[in-house]
Amino acid sequence: MEENLVLEAIAREMQTGVLVLDPGGGILYSNPFLARCFSIIGDIRGKKIDAVIRDSDFIKAVEVFLKDRGKTPYDGLEINEDGRFFNIRMVPVKEGGDFNLMLFLREITEEKRVETLKKDFVANVSHELRTPLASIKGYAETLLDGGMDDRTTLKEFLRVIDKHANRMSRLIDDLLVLSRLESHEMPMVREPVDMRELVSSVAEGVKKQAADKGIRLSMSLDENLPKVASDRGRIEQVMLNLLDNAIKYTPADGMVNVKVSSSGTEIRVDVKDTGIGIPPGDIPRIFERFYRVDKARSRDLGGTGLGLAIVKHIIHSLNGRVWVDSAPSKGSTFSFTLKPAC
Ligand SMILES: Nc1ncnc2c1ncn2[C@@H]1O[C@H](COP(=O)(O)OP(=O)(O)OP(=O)(O)O)[C@@H](O)[C@H]1O
Ligand SMILES: [Mg+2]
Repeated sequence: MEENLVLEAIAREMQTGVLVLDPGGGILYSNPFLARCFSIIGDIRGKKIDAVIRDSDFIKAVEVFLKDRGKTPYDGLEINEDGRFFNIRMVPVKEGGDFNLMLFLREITEEKRVETLKKDFVANVSHELRTPLASIKGYAETLLDGGMDDRTTLKEFLRVIDKHANRMSRLIDDLLVLSRLESHEMPMVREPVDMRELVSSVAEGVKKQAADKGIRLSMSLDENLPKVASDRGRIEQVMLNLLDNAIKYTPADGMVNVKVSSSGTEIRVDVKDTGIGIPPGDIPRIFERFYRVDKARSRDLGGTGLGLAIVKHIIHSLNGRVWVDSAPSKGSTFSFTLKPAC
């Protein structure tokens, strides 16, 4: 194969933008990937670079580079064009006395997104651990400063310390569950599960929590439900998280209902409550890790904001769907679907 054809095919197929400029900054060549990234239509040969990329730092760097005839290759400039990030590398190409500039634009939008997620995650975890830790330290210090001489104070403060220590330990447990789910270290079992029996047994476990708040817990379970192909332990965890939320975010005298129905192709579970509901603006983010409508309230109730992230992960791993319908002060219905066992 002819060398030129090979080079042309490489430039055409590569997933990096390529631009070649003449010494005056006019465009000599651009590859299709660049045209796609910057929505370029038609021939741009002969046009100036700022007709394609508007980032002012980039234009300046190109000018400097052209002026000193590319004495040093330039790597590391990052630009943001309409929410997409690119890393730019500039290389001089000399042929005889001629000098051209070659630019490689590698898209790094996904890398940036993951980097931000990681940063946010670390910041969130640190914050969530620091809050209970500060309380534990504060109460322990007060006790050591003489507070423990009074038995009532001693008991009361130890109870608070115990509560915060439990919160920290729950947070760590939830983080470990999430990380195992994400790294697929916890493979999903696919066994036939009887949802009537599973839902009844989980509901039995939270009956006291509901009764203590004066909440009526009821169930509507279809007769003749097919079994689902699922992981019993994981679905119990999903039901427990959803029921715990329904009870936590429903004021006294409210109602919580669990409905399990079948459409033939799917088994559907709805956990409906008459609680405080979720404002429309918060609904799209409700399944994100650490996202809580009212942080202080959730924290007071011992929450870490990881429950729904775990629910979403488990249901998606089982190829199901999960969503919520909710309106402030009217209540919420969290629903998910699972496939029937063959
Ligand atoms: N049934 C519900 N009614 C009203 N708001 C809810 C309901 N379920 C969840 N939410 C809102 O969604 C947020 C996230 O829920 P999630 O279960 O992930 O965390 P949490 O309940 O605060 O803490 P955790 O589940 O770790 O104990 C809650 O803080 C609350 O604001
Ligand atoms: Mg929860």
